[in-house]
Amino acid sequence: MTESTITIDAHIEPGADVDAIKLEIVRALTSTPKALTPKWLYDDRGSQLFDEITRLDEYYPTEAERSILDAHAADIAELTQADTVVELGSGTSDKTRTLLDAFWARGRLRRFVPFDVSEATLVDAASMLAERYVGLDVHAVVGDFNQHLPKLPTQGRRLIAFLGSTIGNFHVEERRAFLGALADTLETGEWLLLGADLVKDVDRIVTAYNDDAGITEAFTLNVLEVLNREFGGNLPVDNFDFVPLWDPTEERMDIRLRADTPFVARFEDLDLDVTFGEGEELRVEVSTKFRPDRLTADLADAGFEVVEFWTADGPTVSDPADFGLILARRVSDRSKSAAARR
Ligand code: SAH
Ligand code: TRP
Repeated sequence: MTESTITIDAHIEPGADVDAIKLEIVRALTSTPKALTPKWLYDDRGSQLFDEITRLDEYYPTEAERSILDAHAADIAELTQADTVVELGSGTSDKTRTLLDAFWARGRLRRFVPFDVSEATLVDAASMLAERYVGLDVHAVVGDFNQHLPKLPTQGRRLIAFLGSTIGNFHVEERRAFLGALADTLETGEWLLLGADLVKDVDRIVTAYNDDAGITEAFTLNVLEVLNREFGGNLPVDNFDFVPLWDPTEERMDIRLRADTPFVARFEDLDLDVTFGEGEELRVEVSTKFRPDRLTADLADAGFEVVEFWTADGPTVSDPADFGLILARRVSDRSKSAAARR
């Protein structure tokens, strides 16, 4: 039997782009309001805590998405006829196995390209998958999907999977830019598989981000440890409260850390003093919940045609659908697809 091969491309190297990263953090901590990009949540500990979140009873998105993948993985393999699956923000690629199994069973899968900022998680996932699918070419990419999409390997007929409703963690403008960049990365006829959490009962949403065991709180607070470690800081972690808010206008969770008492933190590596006033908040992440029509329209604007929109049922028949999995195809003309829906 042919051995699997594992290649790892690193576009984020320790010590590289130091000035740009420092500038980004200085901006994040000195802007009003203070706000971070979510990738800082996912160091080794953060990635482990996120993995625990996906196994919490309260955190419904993982099982909802898995149930759709279980039901439709074979359809996805048939419809796309892809031989290369790329996964952005792949993490442990746990649910992805359901998808890959269906491709593998058809003997068509040649290449899997997991892409993540978290190198350790990626390396573990790559070796697990290379063992599971003997003969598969696993081409892992360590990168930031806001910057490095042009570095994706172009071989084969590709399906890009973007699961876990990570699409919800962008702000509106970034989401638009990201979908546009994604369309630019794909050839006409190549595919996108997008998992998106849907608007529903607010309590059900808020509970998913405020679990009883405090795992989400620990996951969020960990970002302060990351900043302290990476930039020689002394942010007082115990002085922050976890504030998971629902924003009814934007229909998204808005997750913040609030300083109990005022203080000045020093970041030696940035030569920076950061002042927090009493009750001042650091915005850590948003998690947008989608309405199917809106999302379909955003995809059309970016140059994608929605071919399937599968959903997972909510807790009872009278509830709206819980979660959506969209299979979309890159179409040749961006303006045409946008015009077609008008
Ligand atoms: N796809 C998995 C994990 C989702 S959590 C699931 O469905 O459960 C989000 C993942 O995206 C994490 O693994 C995190 O490390 C990664 N990530 C976050 N920001 C990123 C960025 N800017 N570029 C690349 N990966 C990123
Ligand atoms: N993509 C996940 C989501 O939006 C990320 C996530 C889950 C998250 N729980 C979180 C981000 C808590 C910040 C805080 O659901």
